[in-house]
Amino acid sequence: MHSLLPVSTPSASPAQFEEGTTLDRFLLETLRDHPEATGQFVTLINQVTLAAKLVSARVNRAGLAGMFGATGTMNIQGEYVQKMDIYANETFKRALEHAGVLCMIVSEEEENAIPIPPPFHPGKYVFAMDPLDGSSNIDTNASIGTIFAVFRRKSAAGQGQSEDILRSGRDLAAAGYIVYGAGTVLVLSTGQGVHGFTLDPTVGEFFLSHRDIRLSPDTRTYSCNEAYSGTWPAPLTGWLAGTKDPAAGWSARYIGSLVGDFHRNLVKGGVFLYPPSTKAPSGKLRLLYEAFPLAFLAEQAGGAATDGRIPILDRTLASLHERTPLYIGNANAVSEITRLLAT
Ligand code: AHG
Ligand code: MN
Ligand code: MN
Repeated sequence: MHSLLPVSTPSASPAQFEEGTTLDRFLLETLRDHPEATGQFVTLINQVTLAAKLVSARVNRAGLAGMFGATGTMNIQGEYVQKMDIYANETFKRALEHAGVLCMIVSEEEENAIPIPPPFHPGKYVFAMDPLDGSSNIDTNASIGTIFAVFRRKSAAGQGQSEDILRSGRDLAAAGYIVYGAGTVLVLSTGQGVHGFTLDPTVGEFFLSHRDIRLSPDTRTYSCNEAYSGTWPAPLTGWLAGTKDPAAGWSARYIGSLVGDFHRNLVKGGVFLYPPSTKAPSGKLRLLYEAFPLAFLAEQAGGAATDGRIPILDRTLASLHERTPLYIGNANAVSEITRLLAT
């Protein structure tokens, strides 16, 4: 038959095979060797992707809403940002609470842990989230995201207890984020490497796009809000001055959305710093739903994360919204910063 277009020959090469691998299929194949799995984790991730698709669609329309704001229908005091924070929080909560897979939800947007409301049944996982990270960037069309951490419950049954959440980062069962950027990408680890899935909005599915992401150990890119460096710990200002030596080969990238900066560094290599400062003496970022999950991903990808004293995952959560300094990314830069801070 005559064709005007080149026709590719069907091939069973792994690369072609992977092109069509949905997140759902990937999880089922991962769990094939775990006959004890009950399916609750797959259900949990399916509900996460449902919420992510809803938030992604809303974020994509934010530019239109921003234009309305310019006409005076929205104030410039962050009200729209607040609405997106609340929309993301409510969307994730509603998608997650009814599925019978969680015994507790913790959110940046809520002071207390959220029990599973009746008539829904508590399940075996605990979910902590930053529903919308980098929300100050919505009106700039820069990358924003959702970050989440998953623990297996410790308590026997019923609603989750404090022992289910006030625990070491080493207890994490899984972690991930969704970055709403030029495209929407979900990055996930269950402790067997880090894998990325890109949303194809035309069919509403996440497909495997980044298998086994490895964080390059020595890429010389740093990400931080350098404007605050005047009040950082002295060894860091010395380190930062060293990055200005052209012979050292450093470059800088900072968006101001942790999830966007981290994603860039995960894919391209780099180190992210949010040290303590006079303005934020314990750092700004939250241990449970920002530092813990990204540290889990960084370590799984061959990188590292520290609070400047100990690895982030060695910390034990003392309170839900506890803050921490954070140095995260390529292993060599993180170990150099740790060494300097110890002096
Ligand atoms: P959130 O939008 O969840 O409150 O988080 C904002 C955080 C984080 O995304 C980012 O790394 C940091 O704030 C940026 O802070 P600065 O503006 O101080 O650089
Ligand atoms: Mn955040
Ligand atoms: Mn947030």
